[in-house]
Amino acid sequence: MALLNHIPFVIAICLASLANAVAIIGPQGGVNTVTGQRPFRQEFSTFKNSGPAFDLYILSLQQFQQQNQSALLSYYQVGGIHGRPYIAWDVVQGLYQAGYCTHSSILFPSWHRPYVALFEQILWNYAQQIAATYPAAQRSQYQAAATTLRIPYWDWALNTTMPDLVNSPMISVNSPHGVMNIVNPLYNYTFHPQPSAADFPPSDGLIAEYHSTVRYPSSSGQSQPVLANLRLEANAQVIQDATYQLIADQSNYAPFSNAGYTDSRGGSYNSLENMHNAIHSLVGSGGHMSFIPYAGFDPIFWLHHANVDRLFAIRQAIYPSSYTTAEVDAEGTFTNAPGETEDINTPLTPFHSDSVGTLYTSATVRSTRPFGYAYPEVVDWGFNASQLSSNARTALNKLYNPTGSISTRSLFSKRDNPTAPYMNATEYQYYVNIRVPKAALNRPFFIHFFLGSVPPTSDTWSFAPTLIGSQSILYYPPASNITAPNLTSRLSYGQIPLNHALLRDLTSLDPHTVVPLLEQQLNWAVQDFGDQPVTTADVEGLKIFVVGRVVRQRGREDGFPGYGRYRIYRTATKGKVGALPDGEGW
Ligand SMILES: *[C@@H]1O[C@H](CO)[C@@H](O)[C@H](O)[C@H]1NC(C)=O
Ligand SMILES: *[C@@H]1O[C@H](CO)[C@@H](O)[C@H](O)[C@H]1NC(C)=O
Ligand SMILES: *[C@@H]1O[C@H](CO)[C@@H](O)[C@H](O)[C@H]1NC(C)=O
Ligand SMILES: *[C@@H]1O[C@H](CO)[C@@H](O)[C@H](O)[C@H]1NC(C)=O
Ligand SMILES: *[C@@H]1O[C@H](CO)[C@@H](O)[C@H](O)[C@H]1NC(C)=O
Ligand SMILES: *[C@@H]1O[C@H](CO)[C@@H](O)[C@H](O)[C@H]1NC(C)=O
Ligand SMILES: *[C@@H]1O[C@H](CO)[C@@H](O)[C@H](O)[C@H]1NC(C)=O
Repeated sequence: MALLNHIPFVIAICLASLANAVAIIGPQGGVNTVTGQRPFRQEFSTFKNSGPAFDLYILSLQQFQQQNQSALLSYYQVGGIHGRPYIAWDVVQGLYQAGYCTHSSILFPSWHRPYVALFEQILWNYAQQIAATYPAAQRSQYQAAATTLRIPYWDWALNTTMPDLVNSPMISVNSPHGVMNIVNPLYNYTFHPQPSAADFPPSDGLIAEYHSTVRYPSSSGQSQPVLANLRLEANAQVIQDATYQLIADQSNYAPFSNAGYTDSRGGSYNSLENMHNAIHSLVGSGGHMSFIPYAGFDPIFWLHHANVDRLFAIRQAIYPSSYTTAEVDAEGTFTNAPGETEDINTPLTPFHSDSVGTLYTSATVRSTRPFGYAYPEVVDWGFNASQLSSNARTALNKLYNPTGSISTRSLFSKRDNPTAPYMNATEYQYYVNIRVPKAALNRPFFIHFFLGSVPPTSDTWSFAPTLIGSQSILYYPPASNITAPNLTSRLSYGQIPLNHALLRDLTSLDPHTVVPLLEQQLNWAVQDFGDQPVTTADVEGLKIFVVGRVVRQRGREDGFPGYGRYRIYRTATKGKVGALPDGEGW
């Protein structure tokens, strides 16, 4: 009896301490709780034409950004959960000098789901208030749009150019006071006040000093979106090919999830995190997006991460039983010690599912349904799991690989080539694999790959006509008390598809044609985020090698190509600085 009397008392104490936790339940308006039907997050280029919904989105974002930075639900504090300032959010204490965000970690996809849902929920709440203030003649239309409002995503695998409106300093909206041209809350976020040295320490350098978020800043601190877009566009084909193949070919969750996963059996050089890193780096190029501790403040972060979450959701629909496994997190976070093993039940700090302080885990964020949103490619109501998977595969094919083949010019069939190993039309696909000690330069950097010579001046490297693509190493030196024991030797993995560049010069993708070309023409060069060239030999431990495989064209609209086994073509990189040494495997 005595014991039983004590239990409610203990629980009561816990409840009291967190009775006011922020319950992240997403926007619940427009949800059919019986069928599970819920409004879509839409692609930005569709969403921008939605009239009232778009007006409400912009006006809500404006109010969100104006919120006092000392408020828990201010844009500053929510953006700051990701990295700096390294302080508790919603009373979830941490021990380490780091943000809460999980990178090079099995939790990378799942942690960002409730994070983006929190942002969406706050925005949605503003939209309800704003809609109620429209003149009577427009009010019901705006209230209906507010109910089903969800944030848009930027599908950078479909169109790597940043949406135009994101780079326009001013924007026109129909507000409750009529049509107005306002300062565009998608363009930048202006700190108010400028964070203190405790929040943004001067030791972080220039990035701590900007008064507003910037993209590819000039030496005078102005955003240069035109240059950032040139960088993105130069990588468009790589990003589309790599995104498609990542989802079509990687049925194992751990290598799919993060760029730090080391696969002793080989074959896992691309990951969702690696694709995501590329967008952060190319958009930011020395601005906020390119530094993890500061990225959450740039408004484009939320368009980007909604898309990361969407690709994750599409993949979940395709491989429903493949999910978070146990993996050591070498990096650590504000709350998670470096070297700790994380798994499906590791709390996703600081995100609470209810007001009494229950923390989400990967297990409890597995479906988007509790968060009140869906994506056009993942309609999970009215379909069983196998139909859902089929629909998601068809959608992925239509968006990113409509012809069913990367390069129809190179197709050869069994009839043309009796030694071809498959019945269907087949072709070869080639890639550069990159393995790099993340902390090699103690700052972030690009490795640009060229088919042809490296241009003499580094400022044109990232969009040279001979560029194949750019690998980014999104590294930020950790604060002293979270330096993981093996940080310097920790590896980051990336992969750059080559076919789009090979087909500029070749009409056949047979290895006898391709490998000699690569031996002569494949080059790479290292550049930091301040556009300065770096001697390749300074990236100690860099290992680059070329692989290829046979790919069999898909036979059905909801099927994927058949990917053969990777083969290493060592001579393609032989003698070049940073090449995988002879005798070493993956
Ligand atoms: C923001 O809130 C803090 C704490 O409530 C207050 O001291 C400060 O004056 C507010 N700042 C502005 C600009 O309203
Ligand atoms: C790390 O540094 C912070 C700030 O100085 C301190 O509060 C925290 O206790 C330190 N953590 C560890 C594990 O030493
Ligand atoms: C890609 O996006 C840019 C920026 O919004 C736009 O100007 C361009 O027309 C888009 N391209 C395609 C093919 O839709
Ligand atoms: C942020 O953008 C606005 C225009 O939307 C501009 O007036 C302001 O100067 C920008 N801030 C900085 C520091 O560049
Ligand atoms: C899913 O639905 C389809 C179409 O109604 C049906 O043919 C199939 O048998 C169902 N699969 C399962 C596993 O229920
Ligand atoms: C660090 O790396 C060494 C060599 O790879 C390994 O033996 C050791 O267990 C690692 N330590 C930690 C804490 O991961
Ligand atoms: C691939 O082969 C299958 C049967 O082996 C056939 O049904 C399908 O039509 C073929 N696809 C193409 C594109 O030739």
